[in-house]
Amino acid sequence: MTSFEIAGDDFVLDGEPFRILSGAIHYFRVHPDDWADRIRKARLMGLNTVETYVPWNAHEPRRGEWTTEGGLDLDRFLRTVQEEGMHAIMRPGPYICAEWDNGGLPAWLFTDPEVGIRRSEPRFLSAVTAYLERVLAIVRPLQVTAGGPVLLVQVENEYGAYGDDREYLRHLTEVTLQAGIDVPLTTVDQPEPHMLENGSLPGLLKTASFGSRSRERLATLREHQPTGPLMCSEFWDGWFDHWGAHHHTTPVEQSAADLDDLLAAGASVNIYMFHGGTNFGFTNGANDKGVYQPIVTSYDYDAPLDEAGEPTEKFWAFREVIAKHAPVPEEEPVLAAAAPSLTVPFDASVPLFAVADRLGRWDHRDDLPSFDTLGHYSGFGLYRTEIDTTEPAVLEFGEVRDRAYVFVGSTRVGVLARDHHDSAITLSPARGTLTVLVEDQGRVDYGPRIGEAKGLIAPVRLNGEALSRWSALPLDLTALTAVREALDASAVADGAPERLAGPVFARAVFELAEPGTLFLDTTGWGKGVAWLNGFNLGRYWTRGPQETLHVPAPVTRSGRNELIVLELEAAAEAEAVFVPEPRLGHTEF
Ligand code: GLA
Repeated sequence: MTSFEIAGDDFVLDGEPFRILSGAIHYFRVHPDDWADRIRKARLMGLNTVETYVPWNAHEPRRGEWTTEGGLDLDRFLRTVQEEGMHAIMRPGPYICAEWDNGGLPAWLFTDPEVGIRRSEPRFLSAVTAYLERVLAIVRPLQVTAGGPVLLVQVENEYGAYGDDREYLRHLTEVTLQAGIDVPLTTVDQPEPHMLENGSLPGLLKTASFGSRSRERLATLREHQPTGPLMCSEFWDGWFDHWGAHHHTTPVEQSAADLDDLLAAGASVNIYMFHGGTNFGFTNGANDKGVYQPIVTSYDYDAPLDEAGEPTEKFWAFREVIAKHAPVPEEEPVLAAAAPSLTVPFDASVPLFAVADRLGRWDHRDDLPSFDTLGHYSGFGLYRTEIDTTEPAVLEFGEVRDRAYVFVGSTRVGVLARDHHDSAITLSPARGTLTVLVEDQGRVDYGPRIGEAKGLIAPVRLNGEALSRWSALPLDLTALTAVREALDASAVADGAPERLAGPVFARAVFELAEPGTLFLDTTGWGKGVAWLNGFNLGRYWTRGPQETLHVPAPVTRSGRNELIVLELEAAAEAEAVFVPEPRLGHTEF
């Protein structure tokens, strides 16, 4: 039986001091058929461990509905890590931050106004306990002590940046121990004295998160923990991007020098990220420190492996640094050929409003419901009511979360953007149906705004009078069956479109000789979502910085492939363009 423990200033594996050289790969951001490839490349860079968070809200999208299907098969991921001869680190949260929708906390938790998030409030604790028991039942038999790959389990995440409820941390620790976890437990905090103090408990190994000034940060960690292995659990080698801002990069030499300092100090490390992957579907989070800033679809992170799994300059620089401190395999990763260039016309289009009734059920109420009140926790929804004004009028929204396209009849009369704090538009005399299409652009993942409701937030007033008699339609965009049927009918009746005027679904069909990674160039389009062969690739937006969407190779097929887009705004050319290389946008300098 393998043993793994902390002794003095070391991790000790089967009686020998062991330095953890880990890289983060989030299984939920990588297509499952790409897991083995990415994990192998981590080993080829010289790493011996792979770390992942667990996103509670993805595994339990509704209370009590637990899933480990497909890309959420954590057991398969951990076994793949082991088959590659690597160890694993688990970070089940419950809060994970990670630029992930709501920091991983399920939106349904917050529909109870009494619930106390990230503290020892009974309702929260009971939900968290049930969640942790489920995840840890997967992890327990895969601990290194049980013959599996898992070396460490982290409790909470950067808790010291949020709260100081030790009772809460004690509860999480007890649940973890009672679930049969016997490998060392850790916490991670930014190396600020109050965070290191508030984020941990005696008996849990304190580790730090940082991306520069390694020696200084390790010294701070040491001041707060006189013995025990030094570990940076998040060595930030890049950063994430917001829509409308620049693409973040970290200079390779600087990052490599900081990693070298860290390893020269004898510390263990988890490189965050080794391979970032993609915020597929509607999974991205957002920041909000007074301005709402949603995270883009790419989670490339300027990491050693890029979003499509290719080694970057940083990979080779880190490999050289690691080789100074530990053995690195001689084998090198095989580089992929450039992706194909293709231009494919859309063969059919159908207005969203023509098919919406088949994408969900209208809910009729007097008062305006939020998406959360409707049990709708991500993506898009429609609101409708009747208006009648004979003079120019002001339409005012309590709040728009996060972007609202406003129509009177079928005419678009305005857009309200939360990131601009928009709250009102003027209408010329208007009579008829007011329709508001709302996009939840991703829940805040850091700080006190976690858990906010989405959709329209009441009241909505016309010239000061609250509007009532609302109908609301949560749009279910998981299976596009109804959209496909409507596209088929429109292809026959109307033929191919010349341009796209949103909100509209459009389809392009093309042949591939063999499956392979593609990069969908979205620069000709406005804002929307794209699916390839039914797989939701995520959001695109002309604001950038990213100009291409990553299409994972396992989603493509030899022979016929089908692209569907939901374009909310407009496209002058009714065609889809695929390019050989990703373009993540302009950088700071
Ligand atoms: C913190 C969090 C991570 C992630 C990084 C930034 O360290 O713990 O989940 O959000 O910041 O990428």
